[in-house]
Amino acid sequence: MPERKRHAHKGNHGRGLVIGGHAEMPGSVAMTASAALRTGAGLVTAATTKDVIPVIASHCMEATYVTLDDTKGFLNDRTSIPFDQYDAVVLGMGMGRRPETGKLVERAVNETTCPLIVDADGLYHVKPLLNKLKDRTHPVILTPHPGEMAMLLDISVRELLQSPFSFTKTFAASYQAYVILKGMVTIITTPDGRQLVSTAGNQGLAKGGSGDVLSGITLAMVMQQQSLTDALCNACFVHGKAADLLVEKTHSVYDLMASDVIAGITDVYRTFA
Ligand code: APR
Ligand code: MG
Repeated sequence: MPERKRHAHKGNHGRGLVIGGHAEMPGSVAMTASAALRTGAGLVTAATTKDVIPVIASHCMEATYVTLDDTKGFLNDRTSIPFDQYDAVVLGMGMGRRPETGKLVERAVNETTCPLIVDADGLYHVKPLLNKLKDRTHPVILTPHPGEMAMLLDISVRELLQSPFSFTKTFAASYQAYVILKGMVTIITTPDGRQLVSTAGNQGLAKGGSGDVLSGITLAMVMQQQSLTDALCNACFVHGKAADLLVEKTHSVYDLMASDVIAGITDVYRTFA
């Protein structure tokens, strides 16, 4: 786990940027930002549209907000983002699949000089940019569920799930990307071919928003740890274990919600902090 020194200040635990959201999916960005803060990120900024900010700001009071230009409610690339002010960036949640938004994703791929985590609709936009990932000087981490991974590979989910390890390993090596293939069992693959498995978590997580929470936890871990592989493993573990502890103690696999998982990160940390 990342060390938290007694004399630490907020700058020691990373400045993270979350980019996503549109008018009909405002909560996704809030959940990612809150999860990152609960996981221990020093500072988190949510960059989203002018419609989304007033909806979410009171739900995540610890974050700061940046308004990005939008086209009919969907993010575009007309606002210049000072990417160099951040230690890691996560994008994609709730951003939709409009071409204007794809241009923003392209800018992030080209301009970020820190780890870049891509989730959800961000994965759709990154597909035509896959060959550019190799040119990046800093790591890219893709966090697909099987449907998104199959989309990236141009195969069916059924085909993917027959050989998830080998498909993901080849993909990660081809594009020099870290991949977190999510599911009941989550497979973490590094560009050099290491593969690690997280079995934490339960079917209570099979609900919209769980992925947004994992993205936020991942953002926080990536900013606080030297080893990227350790950070990704910790992220998957904390996410799944939070859900497991909640289902053991206070919730069930039926009622568990993504926001409960954010609150439940506390229980995971308290088992060893
Ligand atoms: N057991 C353990 N973990 C699970 C299980 C399960 N049965 N089901 C889901 N999870 C975990 C996954 O490992 C992952 O970490 O919950 C998370 C779900 O992430 P996503 O699939 O990305 O879910 P999310 O994005 O929150 O919601 C679904 O995906 O297809 C899109 O647009 C669709 O909005 C929808 C969204
Ligand atoms: Mg998702």
